[in-house]
Amino acid sequence: HDEIHLPDTKFSFEGIFGTFDRASAQRGFQVYKEVCSACHSMRHLSYRHLRGIGLTEGQVAALASQFQVQDGPNDNGEMFERPARASDHFRRPFPNDAAARAANNGALPPDLSVMVKAREGGADYIHALLTGYADPPPGVTIAEGMHYNKYFPGHQIAMAPPLNSEGQVTYADETKSTVDQMATDVSTFLAWAAEPELEQRRAMGVRMIIYLAILGGLVFAVKKKIWARLH
Ligand code: HEM
Repeated sequence: HDEIHLPDTKFSFEGIFGTFDRASAQRGFQVYKEVCSACHSMRHLSYRHLRGIGLTEGQVAALASQFQVQDGPNDNGEMFERPARASDHFRRPFPNDAAARAANNGALPPDLSVMVKAREGGADYIHALLTGYADPPPGVTIAEGMHYNKYFPGHQIAMAPPLNSEGQVTYADETKSTVDQMATDVSTFLAWAAEPELEQRRAMGVRMIIYLAILGGLVFAVKKKIWARLH
């Protein structure tokens, strides 16, 4: 059994004072939307959640309206398509798992909503996986339709390298879209999606420590004062 050592990517949200780099998360959403969403759903997310990475209400509404979602049945019992609204869940690429497998040589592209929490290594793993495609080492043969990846457990993955050329997406903020940059951005977006309340949770922890420090100081001062008479 070979040990896989993940490279450590520097993310803005690491450490107790870390926060999500909103610009990176927004670029990461663009990567998800233009690349990953062809195969991967994010069923826990609705368009309105994107307010959390800094999109305005107007931007969310405009974005949602680009997607067609199924609705119905209407008064005639028919299903119909309509433009998505902010409250709709992200559009899913396939109606069900069987259809998803059929389009992917039998492999199921997993939902990415909480993928960062589901895999050991979290965002570091996602980044490593996306940048970890390589030629198989000598003596290793890869099955038809499979791809060698340094960081995927077992090294044979059914997903073809999704990020494979510089400039694959065009960033509005003119950040250069190298494969590494796109991988960092989409990992940041997926980390935010899996734990949008991370910043508040940490801020609460910091406030709690400050509160305990002040309370501890007061208790100590009062104790000194009360016991001073006994000297
Ligand atoms: C698996 C991410 C694009 C098809 C996965 C996994 C992740 C991932 C994290 C799970 C790996 C694991 O189980 O540890 C992404 C990201 C993408 C992307 C971030 C965009 C940048 C795509 C695209 C396709 C695809 C465009 C289809 C053309 C698959 C399939 C699997 C998979 C079939 C299952 C692989 C297996 O179990 O062997 N992807 N993916 N992915 N992805 Fe993607």
